[in-house]
Amino acid sequence: KLPPLVDAFGRRHTSLRISVTDRCNIRCFYCMPAEGVVFRPRAELLTFEEIERFVRSLVPLGLDKLRLTGGEPLLRADLPELVRMLAAIPGIRDLALTTNGMLLDQQAAALQSAGLRRINISLDTLSEATFERITRRQGLDRVLAGIAAAQEAGFDEIRLNAIAIRDLTESEIVPLVEFARERQLELRFIEFMPLDAEHHWSSDQLLTGAEIRRIVEERCGPLQVAPRDNASQPAVDFCFADGGKIGFINPVSEPFCGDCNRLRLTAEGQVRNCLFSTVEWDARRVLRNGGSDDDLRTLVRESVAAKAAAHGVGRSDFHQPERAMYQIGG
Ligand code: GTP
Ligand code: 5AD
Ligand code: SF4
Repeated sequence: KLPPLVDAFGRRHTSLRISVTDRCNIRCFYCMPAEGVVFRPRAELLTFEEIERFVRSLVPLGLDKLRLTGGEPLLRADLPELVRMLAAIPGIRDLALTTNGMLLDQQAAALQSAGLRRINISLDTLSEATFERITRRQGLDRVLAGIAAAQEAGFDEIRLNAIAIRDLTESEIVPLVEFARERQLELRFIEFMPLDAEHHWSSDQLLTGAEIRRIVEERCGPLQVAPRDNASQPAVDFCFADGGKIGFINPVSEPFCGDCNRLRLTAEGQVRNCLFSTVEWDARRVLRNGGSDDDLRTLVRESVAAKAAAHGVGRSDFHQPERAMYQIGG
C-alpha cells in the first residue's frame, strides 16, 4: 500500500474513467460535430495491455472503481476481452460501462459473462424523430433492443442517462420516466454541460434537475430523497412511493466538484484530472518509453496535485475546454 491520491483540497481519488475510443456511431449535437471527426489512428490508442498496466499501477494508491467510456466503447474491437482483463485485477471492486446502446444487443451477453457488472445506457427520447434530431442518425430501435438485451443478460445494475436541454427535453420527461419505471430501471437526467464539439452550449439551454423534478412530481407522483450509495456519486437520487428510483446529475446548477473522486484516461493515454481540465499528462509516453510503475504513479500524482477546486462553468472567466465530450470520455 502506498499513500493515496489526495489533491490540494483533500479529495481522495479512487475512480478512473477510461475512454477506449474516440469513435462514435451517432453524432449527438451535445457532444460531436455533425460532420464527424478525424479519428485517431489505431496506433495512438492505448492497447488493452497498456490500459491494464496503467490500472494495476494505481491499485496500490487506492484505485478501486473503473468505468469504460468513449466515444462509443462498443466500437472498440474485442471489448469483452478488456473487461475480462480489468475484472481480474485484485482490488478493482467496481467495473462499469457507459454506452449509447446502439450495438448493445449484440454484445450485452458477452460483456456480462466477461465480468461487467453495471451498465449505463443513454436514452434521451422515445421518439424516433427526436432521436434523429439529437443524434443526426437513425436507430432508436437499436437502442431499445440494446436495453432489452442488457436486461436479459442479467447485469447487477442498469441505468438510463437522459440529457436535459431546454426546449428539447421537457416533452420527453414523462415518457422516459414511465418507460424506466415499467422496466424497473433507474433513469437519471443530466444537465447539458459546455463540452459539445461545436461550442453551441449556452446557459439558456440549461434545464435544471430541480425543474425536471418538479415536473416529475406533478405528473408522475411524489418523490422522496433516497440515501446516497456513495458520497462521490454525481447523481442525487429520489424514490417514488413504489420504490422506483430516479436521479438527477446537476453539474451546472449544483456542482458536485467538492466530492469529486474521479480521474480520466483518454483513448490516447492522456490523464485528465477533470472533465474541464485544460492540461493533460502523457501516460502513453511513460508506458511506451520503458517507464516504471513508479513513473506512472508519479505522473498521476502530478495530475492530482494540479487539480482545480471546481469546474468554473458559469464564471465570467470560464473557457470551454478544447476537447469535447467524445474526446474525453464522459
Ligand atoms: P454511476 O454513479 O456509477 O452510475 O456513474 P456515473 O453517474 O458517473 O456514470 P455515467 O457515465 O453514466 O455518467 C453520467 C453523466 O454524469 C455523464 O454525462 C458524465 O459526464 C456526468 N459525470 C460523471 N462524472 C462527472 C464528473 O466528474 N463531473 C461532471 N461534471 N460530470 C460528471
Ligand atoms: N453535457 C452533459 N452530458 C453529456 N453527455 C455527452 N455530452 C454531454 C454534455 N455536453 C452525456 C451523454 C451520455 C454520457 C456518457 O455523457 O448523455 O449519457
Ligand atoms: Fe470532478 Fe471536474 Fe467533474 Fe467537478 S467537473 S466533479 S472536478 S471531474
